[in-house]
Amino acid sequence: MKHSVFHYASLDALNAEAKKLNAFLPLSEDTAPLFEPLALGKRAVSNRIAFQPMEGTDGTPDGAPGELTRRRYLRFARGGPGLIWFEAVATVPEARASAHQLMLTEENLDDFKQLLDEIREASLRENGYAPLIVMQATNSGRYSKPRGVPEPLIACHCPPLEDTPLPEDRIVSDDDLRRFEEAYARAARLCQEAGFDGMDVKCCHRYLACELLSAYSRPGPYGGSYENRTRFLKNCCRAAKSAVTREGFFLTSRMNVYDGFPWPWGFGVNERDGLRPDLTEPVRLIGELKKEFDLPVVNVTMGNPYKNPHVNRPYDHGNYVPDEHPLEGESRMMAGVSAIQHALPDVPVIGSAFSYLRQWAGSLAAGMVAGRHCAMAGFGRMAFAYPDFIHDLKVNGAMDPKKACVTCGGCAALLRAGTPAGCVVRDREVYKP
Ligand SMILES: Cc1cc2nc3c(=O)[nH]c(=O)nc-3n(C[C@H](O)[C@H](O)[C@H](O)COP(=O)(O)O)c2cc1C
Repeated sequence: MKHSVFHYASLDALNAEAKKLNAFLPLSEDTAPLFEPLALGKRAVSNRIAFQPMEGTDGTPDGAPGELTRRRYLRFARGGPGLIWFEAVATVPEARASAHQLMLTEENLDDFKQLLDEIREASLRENGYAPLIVMQATNSGRYSKPRGVPEPLIACHCPPLEDTPLPEDRIVSDDDLRRFEEAYARAARLCQEAGFDGMDVKCCHRYLACELLSAYSRPGPYGGSYENRTRFLKNCCRAAKSAVTREGFFLTSRMNVYDGFPWPWGFGVNERDGLRPDLTEPVRLIGELKKEFDLPVVNVTMGNPYKNPHVNRPYDHGNYVPDEHPLEGESRMMAGVSAIQHALPDVPVIGSAFSYLRQWAGSLAAGMVAGRHCAMAGFGRMAFAYPDFIHDLKVNGAMDPKKACVTCGGCAALLRAGTPAGCVVRDREVYKP
């Protein structure tokens, strides 16, 4: 079905379009399910709304949070999500996504501590509770730009992502991978000391750990078989676990369950049938991580923000017009999230990519939670545009269309340009210039 921009004046109109497309969009007018508390392992959240990791490219050169970072997180905190999944934080300097990506070190530990205190304080004051805060620990791999220009560290060649093949010396060695794994021990130790509640070993969007999940063509211990392709992620988790000493501090992962590239270039895809998802391996992997690392929650996502961003975040406007209706993209994400949650009912799942539905995003979140298709709904672009939407959902049972994200792609364009990212429409005084 052809791409179409958002034009739904009512929930009924949206429902009718979803029906026409045979899209899986469980919408609910009753948003109360979003305000039920939830246990995540030994921890608890006050509501079912998570703010997804949203990199702001506004750290200081040494990786500490900058003034705009602080502003973003205090806006998020006052908004009242039950959980803030703090943005990608680099584990080694050479794998930073930009010269302004955050990077937690001994030297800037106090800056992170202070920010976390301020986040909890702001939420307590405004909402009467503090959110759980998970740090996303990352190695940007193929998308490393530590000095502002690409310095890719790749698992293996991937034709859908390389218009011309990258030089062979960009393929990381097994020794490099072992060194990168070890960095997760230091990251976990610092993450605990900074005061985060848990750490995400990031495995999504085709950054290094995610890329390795489909490294079918890589020889040696990190490529080919399922055991080899998942080795890096599991070893990173093992390294992180070895450093965990604080009771209640947990490990988790934000994981791509589908990359949106044909086999053998993507994870979670059917071997014989083009782009059709096959979640057998993702279900197996999350189940194994749950067993070995006792994950209290997993954050499910899809796609690659550089090559197929419509899979990751359905939009009205972007660098290209996708060959599908955005509601089909929403449906693929919601069906994938639901399939994982139903296959693994004892792992609470956070779903992704709700923002496309604008003022009806809360209805999709509520329908997904009420139907037990996920335990929490994660919001990304909406958190930039309209961080206080949770209050409106709670008090009025509805979101304000004049404040909602319009999926214009502005925040992503700022991120790609390596400049501070935020909403150019709803927070224009800061980000439009
Ligand atoms: C500007 C920007 C920054 C992002 N930063 C991260 C990040 O640090 N880590 C991550 O896992 N995803 C990141 N994402 C993806 C979002 O977390 C989210 O999955 C995506 O925007 C879809 O959700 P939405 O429809 O609610 O926006 C980013 C997306 C954007 C647009």
